[in-house]
Amino acid sequence: MSHAHEKVEKNIGLMAILIAVAISFGGLVEIIPLMYQAEAIKPLPGVKPYPPLELAGREVYVREGCYNCHSQMVRTLRFETERYGHYSLAGESVYDRPFQWGSKRTGPDLARVGGRYSDDWHRVHLNNPRDLVPESNMPAFSWLAEAQVDGALVKKKMQALQTLGDPYTNAEIDGAVEAVQGKNELDAVVAYLQGLGKHAPRGG
Ligand code: HEC
Repeated sequence: MSHAHEKVEKNIGLMAILIAVAISFGGLVEIIPLMYQAEAIKPLPGVKPYPPLELAGREVYVREGCYNCHSQMVRTLRFETERYGHYSLAGESVYDRPFQWGSKRTGPDLARVGGRYSDDWHRVHLNNPRDLVPESNMPAFSWLAEAQVDGALVKKKMQALQTLGDPYTNAEIDGAVEAVQGKNELDAVVAYLQGLGKHAPRGG
């Protein structure tokens, strides 16, 4: 035994290989369980893949960079839960690819904004925030009302998400084009915002 050890200590090449093996093993032991942990997270009751209009709105949210000023994650701190509601749970974001948690808050967190204002409030606010909040420095997104939602594209996205494992039914995908018929991007973002936090646990 001591002889074998001596061999390793005196042969730097062999030692390097054995060190690499030992470190890789240590790394794998830490990394592999994490890969399965992500799959083990179950959606909270009621959390479903985004319906077509909300999915389209989410795309606009990402495209316009709303995440540069808005997080979507309520932290487990009292002053946060008192302001926004229940802290965020992983089971709420299983169908968010990529998730929009973020940490940059030029504006308020939006994880619980669904239902806080009327659709009309959001329409006026997105068109020009200063019409409702005079001191706001949020940019106006007045062009959203003029851009139609592309139903064929929404359908393709749902198909791609289905391939990745999101439980869309084929009927839902077939109905996508009709579901966003005649809707513009403003309708879509408002639908998306109104759905945020809908399935969060109640209370702080
Ligand atoms: C440059 C930073 C900035 C960007 C980009 C931005 N916002 Fe805002 N947002 C703010 C600020 C600041 C406020 C708070 C003042 C107000 O209500 O206008 C706010 C408020 C809001 C509110 C009201 C939240 C509440 O609880 O009162 C909503 C909803 C919102 N933003 C949605 C959006 C959406 C959707 C986008 C992208 C299309 C966006 N914001 C992009 C800065 C931003």
